[in-house]
Amino acid sequence: MTEPLDQEEYERPRLGTLGPVRVRVPAKINLHLHVGPVRSDGFHELVTVYHAISLYDELSVRRGDRLTLTMEGEGAGELAGDDDNLVLRAARALARYTQREPLARLHLRKQIPVAAGLAGGSADAAAALVACDALWGTNLSRDELASVAGTLGSDVPFLVLGGTALGTGRGERVSPVLASSHSWHWVVAVAGLGLSTPTVYRELDHLREYGAARESVGAPDRLLAALRQRDPLVLAAALGNDLQPAALSLRPELRRTLEAGHDAGALAGIVSGSGPTCVFLATDARHAEALAKELVDSGTCRSAQPAHGPVPGARVV
Ligand code: C5P
Repeated sequence: MTEPLDQEEYERPRLGTLGPVRVRVPAKINLHLHVGPVRSDGFHELVTVYHAISLYDELSVRRGDRLTLTMEGEGAGELAGDDDNLVLRAARALARYTQREPLARLHLRKQIPVAAGLAGGSADAAAALVACDALWGTNLSRDELASVAGTLGSDVPFLVLGGTALGTGRGERVSPVLASSHSWHWVVAVAGLGLSTPTVYRELDHLREYGAARESVGAPDRLLAALRQRDPLVLAAALGNDLQPAALSLRPELRRTLEAGHDAGALAGIVSGSGPTCVFLATDARHAEALAKELVDSGTCRSAQPAHGPVPGARVV
């Protein structure tokens, strides 16, 4: 007797298609980010809790006689259109792994801000893997996709998976921490200027060297317990990010954004990943709407919008 396929298997295309294949991929925030020492490969050992939120990029892919990429939307003009582009690198990496030619026409619609600490570039790479896998009918397992994803960037495997997950290693080893339908409500406040991730990690190293860094957030036990309790006030008290002091040191004006969120009644405010985006926890969807409006009115950020999480990772729509 054959095992019944689960919902996920039903949704995955079984054969290559002429396209277009459309894939939607979320942004991520880090509910907990412990940064350990620098490793010999230049990366830092992490223990992080990733959380995918309802702010999406969309990639559509169709057959072509070469590999091409066009882009539109939020910050698309700032992205590399050449070999450094993570979408093209992802398509090539999947083609190499499955021993085929990387032939596809890709079009990316961006809504996730660039260089914002929301893993927009990694999200696009995850979308390219899932989209080309469907277009080419290579039908890799999620584990295989995650292993190709890990070669492209530390956050890419999480964006294939989505939900809420524990990340270890340099962030590329992920395992789901919660299979719950409970939704958390956030406001994502985007700054005017982006921040480079390596610069923020270097700043943390400098702060630590001079004894100026805060004590690390340590292990994520309290955060994981808070997620199970489903009480936003408990979660608010458990959020933590070792990169926050480094982002604030490089961008002191982010303190004003965090203060504005606090004054507007956010349950908590935190720099997302390496920043400069700040995310605020709200009680519910209405509270998030009201907070977003007050943050925009405060003039301390470029934009502020409500989002909820967890949501699935890169998926064909
Ligand atoms: O893996 P990814 O390409 O996203 O990393 C971007 C940069 O962020 C790395 O080149 C490194 O400077 C820094 N980083 C780090 N430790 C990690 C993840 C990223 O130092 N665990």
